[in-house]
Amino acid sequence: MIPTPDISHLTAKDYDSIYEPAEDTFLLLDALEAEEQALKDSKPSICLEVGSGSGCVSTFLTKIVHPAVYICTDINPRACVATRSTGRQNKIELDVCNASFALPFRQRLKNSIDVIVFNPPYVPTSFEEAQFAQDNQHLEGAWAGGLDGMHVTNTFLSDVKDLLSDKGRFYLAALKQNNVSEIQTRMLEEHGLRSKVVLERRAGREYLYILCFQHSKAL
Ligand SMILES: C[S@@+](CC[C@H](N)C(=O)[O-])C[C@H]1O[C@@H](n2cnc3c(N)ncnc32)[C@H](O)[C@@H]1O
Repeated sequence: MIPTPDISHLTAKDYDSIYEPAEDTFLLLDALEAEEQALKDSKPSICLEVGSGSGCVSTFLTKIVHPAVYICTDINPRACVATRSTGRQNKIELDVCNASFALPFRQRLKNSIDVIVFNPPYVPTSFEEAQFAQDNQHLEGAWAGGLDGMHVTNTFLSDVKDLLSDKGRFYLAALKQNNVSEIQTRMLEEHGLRSKVVLERRAGREYLYILCFQHSKAL
C-alpha cells in the first residue's frame, strides 16, 4: 500500500484559502494506486496535475511514477505555494506554475504528457458563480463548476487530446451529476479518446467517479 503523503505542515489557516484533501482526493489516490502497474509499465516521463491544490495527489503520483518531471498548475496562488511545500515536506521537487489549466505549456508540451490528472471544480452552480470563482482565483474556484458542474472541466477536455502523448493517460474526477457516460461518449466521438471507469464510490451526498482516458490507438 502506498502511504498517503504527509500534509501535516498544512494548517486550518491554509485550508481557509486552499482545497483541503477530501473524499474526491482520496478516491483519486486509490485510483492511481489501482493503476500502479499499468502506469509503471508505460514508463512515463512527464506528468501534469491541473488544479493541484494541496499537492497531495501529485506527491502521491511521484511514489508510483519515478523518475519523471512533475508539473503542477493551479489558478490559486496559495495552492501553488502549498503544492510546492507538500512536495518538499515529502522530499520531492514539484514544478509548480500559477496558471489556468495547462495554458503555458500547450505548445511546448504538445502531445508529450504521459500522465495528466485533474480533480476539477465539479459542483453544479450558476455559470456566473463558476466564472467569478475562476476570475478571482480563491477557494470557491476549487468547487464551483457552473452548469452541470462541467463549465471548467469542458474547457480542459478540449485540450487534452493535444497534450497527451501517444501512450498518455488522463485521469479525471467527476460527479454523477456531471453525466459521466456523456463525457465518455463525447471524448470518444470528438477527440478519439477511449475511457474506462477506474473507480466509483459514494461519499456522503456525492457519488464520485475516476475516469481514465487514452488515445484509441494506445489501447
Ligand atoms: C477540487 S480541488 C482539487 C485539489 C487537489 N487536486 C485535490 O485533489 O485535493 C480543484 C483545484 O483546481 C483548481 N482550479 C480551478 N480551476 C482551475 C483552472 N482553470 N486551472 C487550474 N487550476 C484550477 C482550484 O484552485 C483547486 O485547487
